Amino acid sequence: MKNIIIINGPNLNLLGKRQPEIYGDINFDDFIVEQKEKFPSLSIEYFQSNIEGEIIDKLHEVGFDFDGIILNAAAYTHTSVGIGDAVASISSPVIEVHISNTYSREEFRHVSFISPHAKGVVLGFGLKSYELALTSFINL
Ligand code: DQA
Repeated sequence: MKNIIIINGPNLNLLGKRQPEIYGDINFDDFIVEQKEKFPSLSIEYFQSNIEGEIIDKLHEVGFDFDGIILNAAAYTHTSVGIGDAVASISSPVIEVHISNTYSREEFRHVSFISPHAKGVVLGFGLKSYELALTSFINL
């Protein structure tokens, strides 16, 4: 059994209600239940925070033991040297995920402080981006 954690950043607690034309209308808690059924060989934990330091603390906590981390740092992706440094500091492989195609949106979303330190990046497939990242951990 591989231990995987999905870490979501700010405003992603509102998934399902927040700008559904961009982020869809599915509640993330329901999505996680579905993913756990789809991937019985993975133990999937979920953590969400709107607070930068809490995301960094969680990365430190899991980053040397977990088999994989799926990180959607949301808006912090584009601003946080601290989260980028945390990803660089840990040994568990991190896959950066985004629901939307950030490259087709505003220019400030084209910058990522996470990507240089990530094992891979999946973006633009809606919530499927998370599923693709989970699939990659089965084969890694
Ligand atoms: C996001 C893209 C970010 O630019 C944005 O700030 C988010 C969500 C995505 O999953 O598409 O909150 O990370």
